[in-house]
Amino acid sequence: MSADTAPTTHQGILSWVEEIAQLTKPADVHWCTGSEEEWVQLTDSLVETGTFVRLDESKKPNSFYCASDPTDVARVEDRTYICSVDEKDCGPTNNWMDPGEMKAIMRKLYDGCMAGRTMYVIPFVMGHLEADKPMFGVEITDSAYVVSSMRVMARMGSHVLRRMEELAEAGEDVAWVPALHSVGMPLADGQADVAWPCNDTKYIVQFPEERMIWSFGSGYGGNALLGKKCYALRIASVMARDEGWLAEHMLILKLTSPENVTKYVAAAFPSACGKTNLAMLEPTIPGWKVESIGDDIAWMKIGDDGRLWAVNPEYGFFGVAPGTNEHTNPNAMRTINKGNSVFTNVALTDDGDVWWEGLENPPEVATSWKGERVDPRTEEGAKAAAHPNSRYCTPIKQCPILADEYDDPRGVPIDAILFGGRRKTTVPLVTEARDWVHGTFMGATLSSETTAAAVGQVGLVRRDPMAMLPFIGYNAGDYFTHWINVGKDNDAAKLPKIFYVNWFRRDENGGFLWPGFGENSRVLKWIIERIDGQAAAVETPIGHVPTPESLDVDGLGMTPEAVDAALEVDVEEWKAELPGITEWFEKFGDQLPAVLWTELDGLKARLGA
Ligand code: GDP
Ligand code: PGA
Ligand code: MN
Repeated sequence: MSADTAPTTHQGILSWVEEIAQLTKPADVHWCTGSEEEWVQLTDSLVETGTFVRLDESKKPNSFYCASDPTDVARVEDRTYICSVDEKDCGPTNNWMDPGEMKAIMRKLYDGCMAGRTMYVIPFVMGHLEADKPMFGVEITDSAYVVSSMRVMARMGSHVLRRMEELAEAGEDVAWVPALHSVGMPLADGQADVAWPCNDTKYIVQFPEERMIWSFGSGYGGNALLGKKCYALRIASVMARDEGWLAEHMLILKLTSPENVTKYVAAAFPSACGKTNLAMLEPTIPGWKVESIGDDIAWMKIGDDGRLWAVNPEYGFFGVAPGTNEHTNPNAMRTINKGNSVFTNVALTDDGDVWWEGLENPPEVATSWKGERVDPRTEEGAKAAAHPNSRYCTPIKQCPILADEYDDPRGVPIDAILFGGRRKTTVPLVTEARDWVHGTFMGATLSSETTAAAVGQVGLVRRDPMAMLPFIGYNAGDYFTHWINVGKDNDAAKLPKIFYVNWFRRDENGGFLWPGFGENSRVLKWIIERIDGQAAAVETPIGHVPTPESLDVDGLGMTPEAVDAALEVDVEEWKAELPGITEWFEKFGDQLPAVLWTELDGLKARLGA
């Protein structure tokens, strides 16, 4: 073990670390402290081995550029498994394998897989260390890239380990999630390393009953930073089902009106469909203010007051780079310009900065994420510069509009939940659900075009319930039941109102009908005014949609026809959705709550279908 080890008195962790070291046979073991010195050592060594390029100190201080292997750029949904004991608990939307069988396969892969490498032990907590029940985890990884990214994305290090020890010494049975990760590329004696080690064979595996994660073969964020999607969504959703709360793929924002009234909004959009942008939005309407609390994950529990309280379990942003600029997301630019960030699969400029499509001031030349020299001023060069799923990884504390409530372990009481996706047609800008069950129906039937955040074809419309399709750690039919039960078991009047939004509807020329980004504040305003019983709406077969006059389009420069087109509910288009929804629901058999069939029947009747 290296000199700066943080050895532990925690027997459970010690014996797990020993077991994994025996299996994976690393050259040495490093217990991560999370200290500044450790960060410097890690990033220096990543620069030395060619994984990182240090960016210019005057542009992006203490920040690094990194290019992955071209085959390891996104989540791998077809390699992601929920290995529940009973296949039925995995459900029709996840991949399943018997846990014993999976462990046998993976033990073979893990056997000796860390040879020639350092095994890092990362004690971390998702959410607040001061929470009533802190949500601990320990990630073991053989990737220094993962350690540096985890330091940005999660509260980690010695102070977390000390707290776990204290609680264990006090005799408290405090749970922690063992999360094992390997890039799957052992080094033989004297074998040179590559900049981005990974393996063609990949497994991202959750064992829900054991609350355990095994990941192999990928270094990409969603596959390798195990506190994020694997723990805070897949494993946490199972905990939430068992304990009566919700672990959701949602941003959390605080909205303050010109009258100084504050509301909290959570919104679920699939990966690369606008969560980070909405979370940091700069309103274009006078007097309105947005502050950020989270951009990806919300853990929500019913409080003593009967309201739904949400916390963001993360400590950083892992944001999509392309499209981010001073106009679309100035607060993200301010956050990353403070430095202390890792940029993966963007382009590197000759003056030691980063660039991606959509960023202002394309340089004359840049090195693309694939190492090619490109001219970002040309359309072709701009496209080739950064991978569409290139990411910035940056500390949340640097966000200039971070709400104070971010640090409150109680979280914030949610007033509105938004579901949304990318749909070129059919789905209007905003629709209000009639009640919780109808809102659950909207969420359960949410559809969106696939994006580059997951490996596979981009642009295919698929059902992505509550934007959780790749993240529900159990049977999605049971997950819908859980949502219905949250409505049934609690006072509906105190629960958030549910809305369905679509920023991505197109006109006949393929252009976006709605300008999006900061202008989405106009939709937030309508939503708040609906909650307060002020804004008008028309009742349509699919829910309440703004009357054109009720949506504040002052100074927007949109024609009334364009506003109408963004808000339109086309009965024929919606009729065409019905067979797809029926087919989707049939997948779940008896597991689908009957009230969702009733909702579908109601929709059919209102559409005259
Ligand atoms: P997330 O993965 O859900 O957090 O999505 P992001 O907020 O990172 O956005 C993903 C992509 O969608 C980026 O390229 C954004 O520029 C783009 N985007 C985000 N919000 C909007 C919007 O309101 N309108 C349009 N047209 N694009 C958006
Ligand atoms: P996001 O998540 O695209 O929802 O921000 C990252 C990921 O999918 O790994
Ligand atoms: Mn995001």
